[in-house]
Amino acid sequence: MTQQERSCALLQPAPSAPLAVSRQLGVVHNNEEAPTQPKRFLSPLRYPGAKSKLTPIIAEMVQRARRARRLRGPLTLIEPFAGGAATSLRLLTDGIVEHAFIADGDPMVASFWREAAMRPSALIQAMRAEYRNYVSIGGATAVARWDHWRQLDVPTGKLDESAQHQLAMKCLFLNRTTFSGILHGSAGPIGGRAQKEGGYSISCRFNPDALAERIQWIGHLYATGKLLEPKCQDWRQSLIDFASAGSVRDGVIAYLDPPYVAKSTKLYRKSFKAEALDRWGDMTEHLNLAAYLRQSTPFRWILSYDYNPELTTDVMLYRSGTVTPTEATAALGAGRYRMVKGLIELQHTASVSNRRRPVQELVISTLSESDTAGLITPLPQ
Ligand SMILES: C[S@@+](CC[C@H](N)C(=O)[O-])C[C@H]1O[C@@H](n2cnc3c(N)ncnc32)[C@H](O)[C@@H]1O
Repeated sequence: MTQQERSCALLQPAPSAPLAVSRQLGVVHNNEEAPTQPKRFLSPLRYPGAKSKLTPIIAEMVQRARRARRLRGPLTLIEPFAGGAATSLRLLTDGIVEHAFIADGDPMVASFWREAAMRPSALIQAMRAEYRNYVSIGGATAVARWDHWRQLDVPTGKLDESAQHQLAMKCLFLNRTTFSGILHGSAGPIGGRAQKEGGYSISCRFNPDALAERIQWIGHLYATGKLLEPKCQDWRQSLIDFASAGSVRDGVIAYLDPPYVAKSTKLYRKSFKAEALDRWGDMTEHLNLAAYLRQSTPFRWILSYDYNPELTTDVMLYRSGTVTPTEATAALGAGRYRMVKGLIELQHTASVSNRRRPVQELVISTLSESDTAGLITPLPQ
């Protein structure tokens, strides 16, 4: 067992996946009154390259597929590379899907989602204390706290409730106070160590009331059974869990937003010890994901990637126009679909320098051409 598998295993209960998935669907944890719905942003996490322009496009694609009955309710969206989970939160909140499942292979990110969903009040209380005692004071006090969280080594091999809470708070603090929301690697605190850079201070992205509202909303989505229990796990496990849940073909859609082909090392992986996260630095894990998606999924999916022509010219990636199960995966229910491919221009901050620039995002999906028509631009020939 790798270190990541050990730490993930401790983050989650052990029941067999299909049972866990089917038990979760429709479970209402309590009937408390709905808190205020956050106005604009739903995710408490800022994510490098978060694709705000992509979310409404995915929402429209899913709605068209539902109208055409290619997808049928109650519909579950699964997001195995959750990051800031902006897409799941938006589609759930707008009622475009009935359920969403989010998972991330980074124990820090996954702990954040688990705490926000399952113990929102404790997380809000801790977040407000961090703001009151350090962030709002600013200057050297806030930077020393930033150093504390950056250096804090939570032993992920032994994640009890308190360790998970600490990891969640570490994730939230660093995400809201670090340049571009970058959690790992060399990015420093907003405003620099001297708090004089660019007219920004460490507190400028830390609004405790707005964060509390968003965390409360996540707790509400979980308490009402809409958001399923978030997990710390490798993408493959998330897909396998739903593939083996039985009769899910039209009731599940996966949205996959894996680490970038070009930039992932700097943005996500640098200080990761976890093996599954380290594999994205070369092409290995990109090839593994492509092989899985080309052959083994019993449900439709939407994939987004920073555009790199190799993705659609390499036969080991997504050159093929179809998803073709092998004999073995067909026997397990994998479907045969055509892939639609196209580009979207986004403005995003997928760089450590935080400069916004237009980038092309590749979208590949097993939804139909009519679900994407006018939303994505055909690939250059
Ligand atoms: C491009 S980001 C997702 C961003 C997200 N779509 C958003 O808009 O905020 C990729 C995420 O995948 C996670 N990740 C990396 N390797 C993984 C793996 N093997 N399994 C699951 N998640 C992984 C990273 O921790 C990171 O949060």
